[in-house]
Amino acid sequence: MTAVAETEAEASADTDALGAIESFEVTLRVERYNPDVEDPTATYEDFTLTMHGTDRVLDALHKIKWEQDGSLTFRRSCAHGICGSDAMRINGRNRLACKTLLKDLDISKPITVEPIKGLPVKKDLIVDMEPFFASYREVMPFLITTGNQPSAERLQSAEQRARFDDTTKCILCAACTTSCPVFWTDGQYFGPAAIVNAHRFIFDSRDEGGTQRLEILNDKEGVWRCRTTFNCSEACPRGIEVTKAIAEVKRAIVTRTF
Ligand code: SF4
Ligand code: FES
Repeated sequence: MTAVAETEAEASADTDALGAIESFEVTLRVERYNPDVEDPTATYEDFTLTMHGTDRVLDALHKIKWEQDGSLTFRRSCAHGICGSDAMRINGRNRLACKTLLKDLDISKPITVEPIKGLPVKKDLIVDMEPFFASYREVMPFLITTGNQPSAERLQSAEQRARFDDTTKCILCAACTTSCPVFWTDGQYFGPAAIVNAHRFIFDSRDEGGTQRLEILNDKEGVWRCRTTFNCSEACPRGIEVTKAIAEVKRAIVTRTF
């Protein structure tokens, strides 16, 4: 068989395999909010779709937007769990729409899709992320050093790197902060994501801004507002041990060792 014929045979096999993917009907109950109408209020709208076993909630939202209602508004960019832009409440739980397979949800009843809680809704599933990023900026999420620019790499052992490895994985999706009951009731609280990103630098052996960051988080709206409910760890799509990171920052404030 020639190379072209082999490729055609493979393509045909792939089509057969695709054809075998089961399809099903599913209803998405999406929270809608349009700020441009008089007396805007949030309402729910149902969309029924035919989807497949490989489809994610994000695919369903695309299908609604492209085939049923072009005004449906949501954020997404990478569609592969990297950019963190499509965090939303799916069946009452914060998740990334691009990482949530429809078949893993109970499709026998409508799947509710709502914006993440605690941040002002701008339209449909889009919230104003500015308060979230303001807290993030406040903890100085960048390397702070003193003295002259080094003439070689700042060396670090594997053990020193491991100290903050978990918190380097954050994609700033806000799923943790907006699943926190303290944040829901007190929007001034820094929130888990800001603390995670402070942790990432506080425990970096090359950084010299740890004491400053600990002072910032020793505020009444800082780490002590955390009630250890673990919602944040459960919500994190990157599997970061958020509550553990917060506990380590609390301990560092008390012991001044980090
Ligand atoms: S810690 Fe996890 S849930 Fe929180 S912003 Fe980072 S990636 Fe998202
Ligand atoms: S679209 Fe980028 S994480 Fe989901």
